[in-house]
Order: sequence, then C-alpha cells, then structure tokens
Amino acid sequence: MALPRTISVIGAGQMGIGIALVASLRARIPKVLLYDQNPAQITKGLEFMDKLLAKDVSKGRISEEDAKATRERIISINSSSAKDEYDWARELGERGTEMVIEAASERVSIKEGIFRALARNLSNDAVLASNTSSISITKLAGAAVDGLGKNVSRASEEGKSCAGRVVGVHFFNPVPVMKLCEVIPGLQTSEATLERAKAFAAACGKEVTTSKDVPGFVSNALLMPFLNEAIMCLESGTATRDDIDKTLRLGMGHPMGPLQLADFIGLDTCLAIQETLYEGTRDSKYRPSILLGRMVDAGWLGKKSGKGFYDY
Ligand code: 3HC
Repeated sequence: MALPRTISVIGAGQMGIGIALVASLRARIPKVLLYDQNPAQITKGLEFMDKLLAKDVSKGRISEEDAKATRERIISINSSSAKDEYDWARELGERGTEMVIEAASERVSIKEGIFRALARNLSNDAVLASNTSSISITKLAGAAVDGLGKNVSRASEEGKSCAGRVVGVHFFNPVPVMKLCEVIPGLQTSEATLERAKAFAAACGKEVTTSKDVPGFVSNALLMPFLNEAIMCLESGTATRDDIDKTLRLGMGHPMGPLQLADFIGLDTCLAIQETLYEGTRDSKYRPSILLGRMVDAGWLGKKSGKGFYDY
C-alpha cells in the first residue's frame, strides 16, 4: 500500500514528537509537518528529538546523513501569523497533507475542535487519524462531519465519506522504543482507511493490533484499572510507594512499577483516560482514585511537571 507523501502531526508533546520522529526516520515520509499551538513546545520537542538522533548516531545505529535527512523531512508550522483559531488547519491543507495524526491533549472538546477544523480544510481524501488513548473514534468522526458545515448531514454521502476517513492510530510512550501501535476503526471507518492506517503504523516499525472502538480500547481498558488499583493501594496505606512499585518490577518483571509508570504517562492524562472509561461504561471498577484527582488539582502531573508520586 502506498504511504502518504505528506503527513501532519498535531501536538508536539512527548507523543507527537515521537510520532513525527518514527514517521520520518522509519517510514521515511518525505514531508512531516509538525504543528503545536504553542511554538515553544515545538522548539522543546525538536531539541529532544535532536538528542535522540545524536544518540542513535553515537551508537552507530544510523549515519549522520540519515539523522540530518530525518530532521530535514520535519517541517514546523508556526501559528504566530494565524488569522483565526484554526488558520493552521488551512496551512496543513494547502501544504498537501494526505494523513493527519492528531496527538493533542486528551480532552474531547479539544479533539472535536481539531477534527472539525481538519475536515473543513483538508482534501476530501485525507486520512484523519487520532492518537487518542481512550476517546471514541466514532465521536471524533461525528465532529469531523459537523466541521463540513450545516448542510452536510451525518447520513449523507459526503458525511459518510468524511466519517469513513477517521481512524484511531494509538502509539505508546516512548514512541521510538515501544513496539506496538493499536489501530481502532470507528463504526463508520472505511476498510481503505483502516488499511492505510495499518500500513503507516507498520512502516513506522510497529507491530499492529486492532481494537474495537470501546472506551480505552484494549490497551487502556486493561492498563488504567491496574494503575488505578496501585494508586488506591497507596491511598489506603496497603504498602509504601516503593514497595508497590518493587512488587511489580521484581515480582512480575515489569520494566517500571505502576506508580512510576503513571508518572511517566502523566497523571493528568491518566485521570482523563480513567474519566473517559468511567463515564463511557458507568462501571464502578473504572472509578478514578480520589488521590489521583487531588494530585492533578495540585499540579503534580508526574515526570513532565517535576513532581508526581516521585520527584524529578
Ligand atoms: N523517548 C525516546 N527514547 C527513550 C525515552 C523517551 N522518552 N525514554 C527512554 N528512552 C530510550 C533510552 O534512550 C534508551 O535507548 P537506548 O537503548 O538507545 O540507549 C532506552 O529507551 C532504554 O532507556 P533507559 O536505559 O534510560 O531506561 P530503561 O531501560 O529503564 O527503559 C523505558 C526506559 C523504555 C521507558 C522502560 O522503563 C519501559 O519500557 N517502561 C514502560 C513504558 C510503558 O509501559 N509505556 C507504555 C505507557 S502506556 C501508553 O503510552 C498508552 C497511553 O495511551 C497512555
């Protein structure tokens, strides 16, 4: 299957930077446009990417030319001259985007706004993919159709064709290291879109699994209750932070204990995913722990903020 010649990655956080890197380095997509509403985030993310590439060069995994070419394929999109809130989407469209990977914050309202803008501004055969950890792909497809305008209903041919191009492409953190990508078709995703998404993920060097569009998909429907249970153990005083993590690392061979992993993912992201699971299923087994909510209230978001269950 032919790969896209131009992709756009929306969001230059830890996931977006990792996706842009594997798309350029592994899949060798000729143009990888990287957009973030905060230009400083792009600068920070690209500096981190440069460090990763320099390490690959120093370890002899790639040549200096390869590292240079990888970076040259990545083009940052500056929003400072934007005329309106979604001007960036017009630019991504004008530059020929054939596939978008949205990796913005895990909030429904933010993602819906992005999908509305993408549907309005990108060509009508572009794949609109989300790296969401838990939000319904079918819901994002609905937002995309709404973005086409009031005269396009979700049931019309144009509406169905637009919804058919929306798909979940869920990478894992750190993207350059983790070997999996979970691909999620929404109710209306077309077979062609699903195949294009799988081909892209495979070209990025990932093994691909498929999950139905249920809250958290397979990965987070399994991982998040596990992390939450560890936080509840800490909350109830069952064991100390270090003993909880040590139990899973040394007793079960996990590379990180669950509290360390929650910090690594980001406590705000963990809470957002758990809320989606809880609201989407109304099943009490997914109720987020009170401690997790309080830590997010305090701004203790884990590794990225310097403090979570551990200090960084
Ligand atoms: N970005 C890129 N590479 C990274 C990285 C990052 N943020 N963090 C670590 N690495 C690389 C290191 O550079 C190193 O590469 P090298 O072998 O080329 O030198 C390699 O990973 C190993 O790193 P370290 O030696 O520093 O440390 P560890 O051996 O402890 O490995 C780890 C670090 C790979 C993060 C490992 O602890 C691990 O696998 N942890 C579990 C991660 C996990 O479960 N991720 C999934 C989270 S869930 C998710 O993403 C889904 C979402 O929806 C919530």
